Amino acid sequence: MQSEYQHLIDLSDYPVSWWNDLVELGAKIKENPQEYAHECDGKIMATLFYEPSTRTQMSFQTAMLRLGGRIIGFDNPANSSVSKGETIKDTTKIVSNYADILVIRHPVAGAAKAASLSADCPVINAGDGGHLHPTQTLTDLLTLKIEKNTLSGLTIGMCGDLINGRTVHSLCKALSMFRGNRFIFISTPELMMPAYIKDIIKANGSTYEEVNTLEEAIGKLDVLYMTRIQQERFASREEYLAQKNTYVLDRKKMLLAKKDMIVLHPLPRVDEITVEVDDDRRAMYFTQAKYGVFARMALIMTILNSKKGSETLKGKVYAGVRCDNPRCITNHEEYLPKSFRAGGDETLLECEYCDERKLI
Ligand code: CP
Repeated sequence: MQSEYQHLIDLSDYPVSWWNDLVELGAKIKENPQEYAHECDGKIMATLFYEPSTRTQMSFQTAMLRLGGRIIGFDNPANSSVSKGETIKDTTKIVSNYADILVIRHPVAGAAKAASLSADCPVINAGDGGHLHPTQTLTDLLTLKIEKNTLSGLTIGMCGDLINGRTVHSLCKALSMFRGNRFIFISTPELMMPAYIKDIIKANGSTYEEVNTLEEAIGKLDVLYMTRIQQERFASREEYLAQKNTYVLDRKKMLLAKKDMIVLHPLPRVDEITVEVDDDRRAMYFTQAKYGVFARMALIMTILNSKKGSETLKGKVYAGVRCDNPRCITNHEEYLPKSFRAGGDETLLECEYCDERKLI
């Protein structure tokens, strides 16, 4: 199915040259934001946030306002007709007739993909459950480009909730496309990076190793990407408490790191980085959040200036087959066509909405 509009659901839907162009544009905007003040005059952006956000929502809104556009939307679905049972399909269909571009965050994986199927304007994924967060990745790439002057040849440590962390999933998929990057995953066995992300890294020619402690990895890193243990994604409070406070970056651990290592974090932080680290010149997470505005300005301009649509569903419907992931949008909104990508012999299927695999 070909959409008339260019959506951003997953960065992997685009070639690396497209991301590079966005990063270049973001860097140019950072140097002279005023030059872009009228790029979106007369345009309206809708932000549909079904899940809490500070940075993503406000940086998107700031980006559109700084481009001369205007904004509408909700940040609490309880105050919209979602509370009356309206589907994503209907909400998207309606709001996309009020706006020129739609930004959606949702607690369920594949929700942005689902929205793109019915939208009459471009849709941007601002985070779908524990699945993907492509605009955070654009922010991270811009930060690396500016602060490390390269996206290649880096040793990147990712620490914390790697199973639920959509930011690290998107970032691994992206950075593994650049030559010479090496990943060190630092997590407990319960919170390890999902197998499908590790397979993508291998397929892209990058390497990874997995360790249990920050101390054994930190000295090797060019970039340390810390993440929050995401309480809201755990089945019970007990399971969350068993993981909480496992990894805490403090001044003592920073002494083991290279002088030019940088610390990133998508934020919000809870207690995984002590406030004393904020004063270390290698702590780059607040700067990273600031760069998010420039990355999103570049993205909005690029998407709105694009004429070309993209494929919405590329997979196939298999009679009677549905996704096994209870957190997949196809198990929340029944009308959605189930769609799967097939492995070589069609016994391994991958849900096109949430990437969950199943054998048939
Ligand atoms: N990084 C990020 O997505 O932050 P918010 O949840 O505050 O948007």
